[in-house]
Amino acid sequence: MSAPASGPAASPAPAHSSASAYAPPIIKPTDLRGILRYVPRFKGQIFVLSLDGVIVADENFGNLLVDIAVLRSLDIKVVLVHGIGHQLEELSRQRGISISSIDGTGITDAATLDLAIRASARVSHLILEGLTQNSLKCAITNAVRSLPVGILRGVDQQHTGRVDRIDKVFLSQLIERDIVPIIQPIGYGPEGHSYRVNSDLLAAEVGEALGASKVIYLGALAGLEINGEIKRDLPVERLRLILKETPAQIAPAALSKAQNAVRALETGVARVHLVDGRAFDGLINEIFSNEGVGTLIYANEYQQIRQARRTDVRLIYNLTRAAVKREELLHRSQATIEKHVDQFYVFEIDENIIACVTLAFYADKPHLAEVGSLYVLPFYHNRGIGRKLIEYACLRAKEKGATHLLALSTQSYGFFTSVMNFEETGPEILPEARLKTYAESGRNPRVLIKTL
Ligand SMILES: CC(C)(COP(=O)(O)OP(=O)(O)OC[C@H]1O[C@@H](n2cnc3c(N)ncnc32)[C@H](O)[C@@H]1OP(=O)(O)O)[C@@H](O)C(=O)NCCC(=O)NCCS
Repeated sequence: MSAPASGPAASPAPAHSSASAYAPPIIKPTDLRGILRYVPRFKGQIFVLSLDGVIVADENFGNLLVDIAVLRSLDIKVVLVHGIGHQLEELSRQRGISISSIDGTGITDAATLDLAIRASARVSHLILEGLTQNSLKCAITNAVRSLPVGILRGVDQQHTGRVDRIDKVFLSQLIERDIVPIIQPIGYGPEGHSYRVNSDLLAAEVGEALGASKVIYLGALAGLEINGEIKRDLPVERLRLILKETPAQIAPAALSKAQNAVRALETGVARVHLVDGRAFDGLINEIFSNEGVGTLIYANEYQQIRQARRTDVRLIYNLTRAAVKREELLHRSQATIEKHVDQFYVFEIDENIIACVTLAFYADKPHLAEVGSLYVLPFYHNRGIGRKLIEYACLRAKEKGATHLLALSTQSYGFFTSVMNFEETGPEILPEARLKTYAESGRNPRVLIKTL
């Protein structure tokens, strides 16, 4: 799901069931407003979509292709990587040939490689057919240069390959010409040999090579299951730690995707999603809503944000003074800032505080949190800092159990509603003590709320 990025849901779908299990929800014209918000943000960005073979065989595949066409129509650049596990198993059964590794992480013997090449051709062809139906130009590529994995712990992995190099120039040329590259889980050695490559790994490598902003794994999983629970969003540091210390907590079916998600995030991809490719509207909901249909794993985009310290009090006071004068912010004395310094988060550039925000909780309404004192130095406006601070506050509030975030604003309510997807509500939502200070301030701010 898109936790830090958010927007109204376009008809959420149950993530666990396949397309046949429920009726397609109706997308309302008003949902477009939510989606349009993302258009300037995602425009021109590269999304790597990794389709497991089982998804290409699923009856929802046709809908998924329409979703891909929607992304393209919004000028999002799409690169498709596909797997073949499902088709490989099917071929093995049909032909009575046993396979040495399904997912390309173990040994690939000659017979398995032969079946993998056939399965790959079949899957790529189905994708070609489907994209053609949606009037999208595409091309199967040989952009993955591969080398044999070689001998691991004394055992020759035979035709299993690792990614040596991705031909960025070739892929970029296709993307620039509005051609969707299709990348098979077969790499080519310099001498022309074919190698079986795991598609989860491939998607991460392609994401890195192309500077993709997202890698989206579409598999037959409702998301990343940790300790029996599907996580909706988690920072890469947490996942890295779990993989290192307690990997058994991760559902075995999701392990490869989890490992490669970390790999992608460590090499510059900002977000990795695990989405159920069988769920109607799953992909679109994951990208354009905060309704949690899959799992979002995100890199630390917030390293410039930290909790304020006592030594920051004077700086925060000076930073916000101009906005207080313009009545954009509520006046807070240095003593008040000091008293509530734990509520302040600051944004630093080169160790200078250039923005701040507060996050407060109410003892009598634990599901509510409130952001305030949002201020970005004018020189730094329109660089996404205000958004990052609010997104960060959303994550912290959610971590602490809040389900809704409030903001009281006199002049920047447009920022909260248009950019951050808050909605206007009434002051009666405020806890009693807060309602009192609200009334006493005489500022009459608009009360805005956002579901976390
Ligand atoms: C509001 C504020 C925090 C935004 O910070 P920022 O770092 O410039 O914001 P971002 O870069 O994340 O977002 C910029 C987007 O917000 C929009 N935006 C900023 N202020 C807006 C407003 N008042 N109404 C509507 N949209 C607004 C910009 O037009 C821009 O939109 P775009 O991405 O479509 O181009 C900043 O303008 C500020 O500090 N204002 C003065 C203090 C204030 O009013 N704080 C709110 C107190 S509750």
